[in-house]
Amino acid sequence: MKLARTVLLVALGLLASSMSIAAQEPDLARIEKGQDLYKSSNYECDSCHGWAGRGKPADHPYSTLADGTKLEYGGNALVPSTMTRDEMIMMISCGRVTSGINLMPMYRGDAWTAAYPCWGKVAADMPPNQLPLRAPGRMLSPADVELVVDYVQQVYQGKDMTWDWCRKYFDNFLRICEVWAERGIQ
Ligand code: HEC
Repeated sequence: MKLARTVLLVALGLLASSMSIAAQEPDLARIEKGQDLYKSSNYECDSCHGWAGRGKPADHPYSTLADGTKLEYGGNALVPSTMTRDEMIMMISCGRVTSGINLMPMYRGDAWTAAYPCWGKVAADMPPNQLPLRAPGRMLSPADVELVVDYVQQVYQGKDMTWDWCRKYFDNFLRICEVWAERGIQ
C-alpha cells in the first residue's frame, strides 16, 4: 500500500514536470499569428522595425508629424532589445515619444486612461508633445498585443533570422529570402 502510494506520487511528479516543460515551449501557432499581425498593413510594425526586426529609417507618411517634422528614424532594432515580456506589452500598448521626433505609436485603445495607465501615468499627466500618436491603422486587442510580443521575443530578440521565418514572412516568395541569404540585405 505504501509502495503503491509512493509510485503514484512519483508518477504525479513526473506528469507535473513534463507538463511544465510543455508550457515553456514556444507555441508555434501563436508565434505565426503574431507574425501575421506584425506584417499586416493594419499595424505597420515592419515599416518602422523592418521585416527582420533590425530597425528601419522613417519612410512612410506616419513618420511625418502634424507640424511637418520628419522623423529621423522609423524604429529601433528589436534584435538587441533587453526588454522583458511585460515591458514589451506596455511599450506596444502605450507607445512612447522619446526625443519628440522618435516615436512609437500606441496600439491599445484605452492606453493612458485610468483603465490602462502607462508607466503609472494617464494622458492628463503628459505634455501633449510627449503623448504618442495612435496606431497608424487599427488598434490591437490586449490578446493580440501578447501574440505580437510572442513573435518579437521568439523570432527577433537575441536571435538570428532564419530561412524558415523569412519564408513565412514573405509567403514563400523566396527571391527576397535568397537575396537576404546571399547578401544580408534587410
Ligand atoms: C512609426 C514607427 C513605429 C511603428 C509603426 C512601430 N514602432 Fe515600435 N518603436 C518605434 C520607436 C521609435 C521605438 C523606440 C521608442 C523608445 O525607445 O522610446 C519603438 C520601440 C519598440 C519596442 C521596444 C524595443 C526596445 O527594446 O527598445 C518594441 C518591442 C516595439 N517597438 C514593437 C513594435 C510593434 C510590435 C509594432 C507594431 C504593432 C511597432 N513597434 C510599431 C517606432 C515604431
